[in-house]
Amino acid sequence: MDNKIIFALDVYDYDTAMTLARELGDKVFAIKVNWPLIMENGIKIIKDISKYSPVICDFKLADVENTVKLITEKAKEYGAYGIITHAFTGINSLKAVVNSAGNMKVFSVVSMSQESFVDEVTKQLIDISKEAGVYGLVAPGNRPLNLKNVRSLAGNLKIISPGVGAQGGNITEALLLGADYVIIGRAIYDSTNPTNVLEEFIQESSKN
Ligand code: C5P
Repeated sequence: MDNKIIFALDVYDYDTAMTLARELGDKVFAIKVNWPLIMENGIKIIKDISKYSPVICDFKLADVENTVKLITEKAKEYGAYGIITHAFTGINSLKAVVNSAGNMKVFSVVSMSQESFVDEVTKQLIDISKEAGVYGLVAPGNRPLNLKNVRSLAGNLKIISPGVGAQGGNITEALLLGADYVIIGRAIYDSTNPTNVLEEFIQESSKN
């Protein structure tokens, strides 16, 4: 799908998740799944959702090489399109994710959508992410200065940006500041009409 929205499907319930995936999957660039959905339903749900949209696993990996490799290989086995890892665990863990990802796209977190210690080392995190060969970076769509800074250092890497909607970020601003894709969850799935709200975000995003 040729648009700039990644839908964060942070619900527990299988039927709710599948209904949303069926209705919205072909209208978004990808669906991002996080621990709440996987904990309740197991890793197999990646395969089910993939029928409707590419799936990005937001596992925010932060562990030793062998463990991140094992988790990355599982996500790959179940057909994920992409996986998100932390970068603060260092170059060796990052390389382990990239080397075990195969065709999966690897995105590393270099700045959070809320204040964190990660902010203090964003440049170093981008440097090692490049060295490890990630496909893209995660940087906040609700913190303009951080996003601008990441864009200026990211080179050719894609940037995916959470924080739009419920966390206060604005989609137009995030895209203007350099996000390639924006990640939106609650603003869509908590609304009374997720399809309409998504359509509004799509319209706004295509103005850029
Ligand atoms: O509901 P909301 O739009 O805030 O969802 C944002 C999604 O992006 C959540 O899945 C959250 O875990 C994720 N995320 C984030 N901030 C980061 C990295 C990921 O909000 N720095």
